[in-house]
Amino acid sequence: MDQLTMKKQAAQAALQYVKPDTIVGVGSGSTVNCFIEALGTMRNQIKGAVAASKNSEALLREQGIEVFSANDVSGLDIYVDGADEVNPQKMMIKGGGAALTREKIVAALAKKFICIVDTSKQVDVLGSTFALPVEVIPMARSQVARKLVALGGSPEYREGVVTDNGNVILDVSHFKIMNPVEMEKELNNVAGVVTNGIFALRPADIIIVGTPDGAKIIE
Ligand code: A5P
Repeated sequence: MDQLTMKKQAAQAALQYVKPDTIVGVGSGSTVNCFIEALGTMRNQIKGAVAASKNSEALLREQGIEVFSANDVSGLDIYVDGADEVNPQKMMIKGGGAALTREKIVAALAKKFICIVDTSKQVDVLGSTFALPVEVIPMARSQVARKLVALGGSPEYREGVVTDNGNVILDVSHFKIMNPVEMEKELNNVAGVVTNGIFALRPADIIIVGTPDGAKIIE
């Protein structure tokens, strides 16, 4: 089965967690794009959505779903997002689409984080297959890169990418993230780092994996 079909299965299965008359937190990326399309079928049952990227915002509007700002809501019932890697503890690496900071912000508003992935995203140790994205204030790029090298990583500047917040991304390979909570905190304490792509302090609550045998729900 191809990857897109598995992503669609996971996205479709996430609809069962959408409650009527609520505002849904929506992440970003190709799996979330499948979810937005599926959510379009519920447009008349929900109040709207808060989006984690300008791209998701545009796609939600195309589906006829009202988009609220994160400042307009005091909380969300659920947040649905993809991931670049997910471990058995439901911790994730995110940020392949450079939307990690807004994703962390919207996720923090939600009671339940539902992560939708295909089987290629499941790993035992975070950092094994995917370089860790770190969003950095542009003027601090070189000094943050030196600090990441000192911590054992190999940072690479993501050329030509500016985040929705006007910042740059460093993709750090060769980090084997054995203690994701400590690593997330340590990297967030580096001056000039806005957010790093480890989602361990606030892991997912439910993982939905699209597999060749259908969507599997890990609660
Ligand atoms: C966006 O910044 C990311 O966090 C995405 O959630 C992640 O990259 C997964 O994207 P795909 O669903 O496109 O694989």
